[in-house]
Amino acid sequence: MSASEEPVNGTDGPIDRRISRKTVLRAAAVLGTAPLLVGGGVALARDRVGTGEMPEFTPACHDGDAPTIEQTEGPYFKPNSPLRTSLITDSTPGTRLTVSGYVFGRACLPIANVLLDFWQADVNGAYDNTGFSFRGHQFTNAQGAFSLTTIVPGLYPGRTRHIHVKLQAPGRPVLTTQLYFPNEPRNSTDTIYDARLLMNVRQVGSAKEGTYDFVLNVPQTPTPTSTPTSPTPTPTTTQTTPPGGTWTPGTFYNAGDRVTYGGASYQCLQGHTAIPGWEPPNVPALWRRL
Ligand SMILES: [Fe+2]
Repeated sequence: MSASEEPVNGTDGPIDRRISRKTVLRAAAVLGTAPLLVGGGVALARDRVGTGEMPEFTPACHDGDAPTIEQTEGPYFKPNSPLRTSLITDSTPGTRLTVSGYVFGRACLPIANVLLDFWQADVNGAYDNTGFSFRGHQFTNAQGAFSLTTIVPGLYPGRTRHIHVKLQAPGRPVLTTQLYFPNEPRNSTDTIYDARLLMNVRQVGSAKEGTYDFVLNVPQTPTPTSTPTSPTPTPTTTQTTPPGGTWTPGTFYNAGDRVTYGGASYQCLQGHTAIPGWEPPNVPALWRRL
């Protein structure tokens, strides 16, 4: 995990741009509470609108926002993580943390059924490389939202505090990146750290609440009345060719299951329910060609 793999961004400019978009987008996620910001945190629209009504998603979303940047996956990714939104139990040590947000395409429309695969260190800064502690994947809901229940990851040598994630919209390439915490002393010395990947984090009682919106490089056609919808997958030659095979939309596949599609055999890497757009050749995070 060489520091030279990723550019360093030490300016505040990208954050400001992200905030301007998020201030409005976030208003759609009003939770009805007004917890304290962690010192120097970024004010979200939900702070201003209190328990107000749900505004529309897209009118103030700036089309053309740059997609979320990629970062190295590092040495600790493992495929086949469990399908779950919580990585902890009642007895898990550590400061409780929820990470929530939305996944948008290039036209600021939320995307449903995006695969998010999270992995992180435990409270001591250790990754579980034999099992699946602090590893789990989930999918955005019909509103394009996700929510992860976990703990604040511990620090380990050479890095600032971070959470790893891979995202994949149906039929699109995988985006690998990381999320960061504000006000971490090591943010200024970690050469992989990038301020564009800073979460908003606030204290809620004894727990922390992090938020982040991802933007994937998924083409979308903006609509004047913005009901959150999933974009129409871009047709590919793979999808337009009569595939043939045992792969069937609507079927739940477990990790290890095998199917055929388009004359090739594939093995399932992560448990999921198949949907159109997730044909095996299109989703390398879910299917490995044999
Ligand atoms: Fe890491």
